[in-house]
Amino acid sequence: MGETWFPPRDRGEAEEGGRLSVSVAFDAGVAVVTIDRQDALNALDLPTLTELRDRLRELADDAGARVVVLTGAGEKAFAAGADIKYMSGLDVGEAKEWGALGHEAGRLLETMPKPTIAAVNGFALGGGCELALACDLRYAARTAKLGQPEINLGIIPGWGGTQRLARATTLGYAKELIFTGRVVDADEAERRGLVNAVFEPADLLAKTMEVATLLASKSLVALAAAKAACNRALQGGHAENLEAEVASFGKLFATEDAKEGMTAFVEKREPNFVGR
Ligand code: CAA
Repeated sequence: MGETWFPPRDRGEAEEGGRLSVSVAFDAGVAVVTIDRQDALNALDLPTLTELRDRLRELADDAGARVVVLTGAGEKAFAAGADIKYMSGLDVGEAKEWGALGHEAGRLLETMPKPTIAAVNGFALGGGCELALACDLRYAARTAKLGQPEINLGIIPGWGGTQRLARATTLGYAKELIFTGRVVDADEAERRGLVNAVFEPADLLAKTMEVATLLASKSLVALAAAKAACNRALQGGHAENLEAEVASFGKLFATEDAKEGMTAFVEKREPNFVGR
């Protein structure tokens, strides 16, 4: 972690007087969002998920946050899913709203115009795995365990898992994990494309920050265009998506960053991107 690491800015009193369970810390343009409910393995109850959604909304519009990293506090869990005690009391209407709130958080991670990276430091189960799947990149500690065990509760993944797990891996593998509830270790997750790479637990955050800092040094406007174009890859029509790519590629030639990037190459120097 760099020396410019600031203490989380959002620590304080939650609405009911408790400590906030989602913190945001900034390091050289990287916002690190930490889910912190360690007594429940960072499972997300209503205040925690609402807070996470709110922080993600802010970060989506925050020019100071060039890259967003999502992780869990402590060594045991990224997030052990939706809070089952909270969910056990929901009726149909409330469960739909609960699902929609998780979807909102997932959509923000998936579509905000900057890279999002999950640092999966332990259990990423159910909704925890789904939030990781909504991120652009996923890195895992060798001790991490991932899965969609909702079937064991008589329900199904409700925060995007039935769609994003298949898109990240294969439909057959997604069905296997979702139908059986089998939890997999980090090495299997890497082999199957569920995570991009696996690191020793003590190195996970530093390695994730290396990638995040690298991305923060690139052209933000080009990264946003790359993310939007890549997000189309598994949806819609191929021909239309290729047309959208070339339109976006062309538009970038009006940016200062494109001029700077190509001029810097020709002049044999490092580019200095300004995000426009
Ligand atoms: N909700 C609420 N509390 C949870 C929780 C969850 N998802 N996961 C863990 N906890 C709590 C436990 O109840 C326990 O609390 P108490 O000490 O008060 O009893 C504490 O966290 C520690 O957990 P364990 O004692 O169970 O720890 P363990 O190391 O023995 O087991 C575990 C770890 C295998 C992750 C186990 O806790 C577990 O199976 N958790 C549930 C995982 C799960 O099913 N997640 C999916 C939730 S459904 C969902 O997410 C729906 C959706 O798609 C949106």
